Amino acid sequence: MNISLNQQVALVTGASSGIGAAAATALAAAGASVVLNYHRQAAPAEKLAADINACGGRAIAVGADISREDEVQHLFDKALEAFGFLDILVANSGLQKDAATVDMTLEDWNQVISVNLTGQFLCARAALRIFNRQGIRTGVSRAAGKIIHMSSVHQRIPWAGHVNYAASKGGVDMLMRSLAQEVSHQRIRVNAIAPGAIATPINRQATEGAAERKLLELIPYGRIGDVKDVANAVVWLASDASDYVLGSTLVIDGGMSLYPEFRDHG
Ligand code: BGC
Repeated sequence: MNISLNQQVALVTGASSGIGAAAATALAAAGASVVLNYHRQAAPAEKLAADINACGGRAIAVGADISREDEVQHLFDKALEAFGFLDILVANSGLQKDAATVDMTLEDWNQVISVNLTGQFLCARAALRIFNRQGIRTGVSRAAGKIIHMSSVHQRIPWAGHVNYAASKGGVDMLMRSLAQEVSHQRIRVNAIAPGAIATPINRQATEGAAERKLLELIPYGRIGDVKDVANAVVWLASDASDYVLGSTLVIDGGMSLYPEFRDHG
């Protein structure tokens, strides 16, 4: 299988670190021009764009808070201004604000829902408007556009102390599947990835030292995930190699969602 994203333009939100940065790097390596969105971390996003350009790729970094309608509009306008088209959206930005529910502030609830769920809606809506105007770009891709939502194993696995995050990802699941049902006939493919424990800045505390050993008890495959495990799947879902895949969630979690504690019990 030869995957090429030549002539395609991809926009990745939350691309300054972690899964977003790895996805953007992999999309660029597969030939796509890449728009790297960041919120506060301009320097790493600018550096990644410069690295991609230095390797013969095409990339720009654009700052935007994806939970704000006007900033999302600005982000997508910049993408079109730079590259003329949009073929792939990776709606990846996400954050955690963990607390026991009795202590969780409304602000922390709202912020997580705004970025993780509303932000994915706003970016998907902006991408769809462009895909609809463009139609199928013959010779570039069989689809009129591809959207990849970044979800989590916690769209399914309840997570005490993280009700805002789990609720946001449960919402992403229904956002993705309802949207896929709505636009598949326009040959727009909407899918999701549900990562488990991938070593990134979002979960540094849980994936290092003594906490890592405890976390590994939940992962039958015996290792913490690497951002490349997810980035490879992003490239596949963005490409025509997955052209018949619609409304699916690809779980990438080393078996975390297989209820591993039931192997010897229950
Ligand atoms: C969270 C990580 C967590 C993982 C598995 C992810 O969605 O962002 O912090 O380690 O789920 O629990």
